Order: sequence, then structure tokens, then C-alpha cells
Amino acid sequence: MPPRDRVTPSSFIATHPRLVIVAHWATALALVLVFTLVLSRELIDEKAWRALLLQGHRAAGLTVWVFALSRLVLRSRLTLADSKAGLGWPQRLASQATQALLYACLLSLPVLGWLLTNARGQVVDLPLLRSLPVLLDRDLDLADDLESWHSTIAWVMVGLVSLHGAAAVWHHRIRRDGVLMAMWPGLRRRP
Ligand code: HEM
Ligand code: HEM
Repeated sequence: MPPRDRVTPSSFIATHPRLVIVAHWATALALVLVFTLVLSRELIDEKAWRALLLQGHRAAGLTVWVFALSRLVLRSRLTLADSKAGLGWPQRLASQATQALLYACLLSLPVLGWLLTNARGQVVDLPLLRSLPVLLDRDLDLADDLESWHSTIAWVMVGLVSLHGAAAVWHHRIRRDGVLMAMWPGLRRRP
């Protein structure tokens, strides 16, 4: 006898395409790694370990950039579920603005990090891959400015992600609609 499918028809949910969901959570995980690697440097004095953590930070940061670009391509090719039908225009606008700002951070931060590295007179080396081209000559004043932009945008992004996550939880717990579930991994698309 074939195994019984335990998913009842009512548990089919209008979810986003699987690739969009995978890309969303892969980016979130990569970001956690990016922050963990750079912030854990504060706890370590040994130069070699600090350099290794920074190299990991750079590689993970560039991975975020590749994920963000891929997500934009995916979004343009795949149709996302309209999980927000019934929301008023102010909420739709707030959601679109937050998402646009998140993309702006995801795309600009790695480039700023790359420029900042070059302005310090260093090259971005990727493990097992070639070094990336040098985009700027050494300029320590510029490096300081780029570092402060890089850091400010990174912390602005933390604020945006907190808002974004809180909004998702609000949809799920208070409004009880399908916005969060549409992005949740492992659920099945409505046939
Ligand atoms: C989405 C991607 C990235 C995020 C969220 C991010 C975030 C951060 C954060 C939070 C810091 C610490 C700032 C502080 O101390 O307040 C930092 C520092 C730094 N980041 Fe990134 N970063 C990203 C990508 C990159 C990339 C791709 C590179 C280089 C290719 C890079 C190079 C650096 C450098 C050189 C520093 C300074 C580290 C130090 O001297 O202590 N970052 N980044
Ligand atoms: C950690 C960093 C995160 C980033 C950078 C991020 C970014 C984004 C972006 C750009 C979108 C637009 C859809 C897309 O292009 O894929 C999106 C959608 C979404 N995210 Fe996140 N997200 C993050 C974390 C979270 C967390 C923690 C939650 C849940 C608590 C969440 C829940 C959602 C939901 C439900 C949607 C779909 C919203 C809709 O239907 O319009 N995200 N996210």
C-alpha cells in the first residue's frame, strides 16, 4: 500500500518558489557568519587568528553579494506568491521600501568592504580562488571614510533586518496571514 500523505489539502500554502526560499535563508545564514567572524575578532589578540577571521569575513561577505545578485535575477524570472493580498497600501509600501533598502545594503556593503581593503593597501584574497582585482590605490584617509560607511551601513542593515523580522512575526502571530509561511522552508506549494 502506498504511504499515506500526511499533508491534508488545507495545509497546502501559497509559498514562494523553492529557489527564492533557499536563497532567502542562505543569505540570512551567510550574514550571521559575516557578523560573527568580524565581531569575534574583538575577543582575540593573536594576529594570525585575527587575519584569518577577517579573511573569512571578506569571503562570506562576497558570498552574500553573489546571493543578493542571484536573488534579484530569480525575482525577475520567477513569480512570487501574492502572500500580501488584503494588506493596505501603507503596509505594502513599508514592506517594499524595507526590502529595497535591504537589497541596497546587501549589494553596497561587499563593494565598500572590497574598496576599503584596497584603500588600506591590501588585496582581497579568496580561499582556493584568485585574488580579486585592485580597484583603488592605497589611501589611508579614504580607507577610514570607507570603513565608517561600511560600518554604519552594516548597523543600519541590522536595524532593518530587525524591523523586517518583527514584521514577519507580526504577520504570523497577530494578523495570522500567510506572509511568513510563504517564506518558510519545507512547506508545500498550493497545487
Ligand atoms: C554583507 C556583507 C558585509 C557585512 C554585513 C559587513 C559588516 C561588517 C562589520 C559589522 C564590520 C565591523 C564594523 C565595526 O567594527 O563596527 C566590518 C568590518 C570590515 N569589513 Fe565588512 N561586511 C561585509 C562585507 C565585507 C567584504 C566583502 C569585505 C572585503 C572584501 C569586508 C571588509 C571589511 C573590513 C576590512 C573591515 C574592517 C575590519 C577591522 O579592521 O577590524 N566586509 N564589516
Ligand atoms: C537576516 C537577514 C534577512 C535579510 C537580508 C532578508 C531579506 C529579505 C528580502 C530582500 C526579502 C524580499 C523577497 C526576496 O527578494 O527574496 C525578504 C522577504 C521575506 N523575509 Fe526576509 N530577510 C532576512 C531575515 C528574515 C527573517 C529573520 C525573517 C522571519 C522572521 C524573514 C522573513 C521574510 C518573509 C516572510 C519574507 C516575504 C515577505 C513578502 O512576502 O513580501 N526574513 N527578506
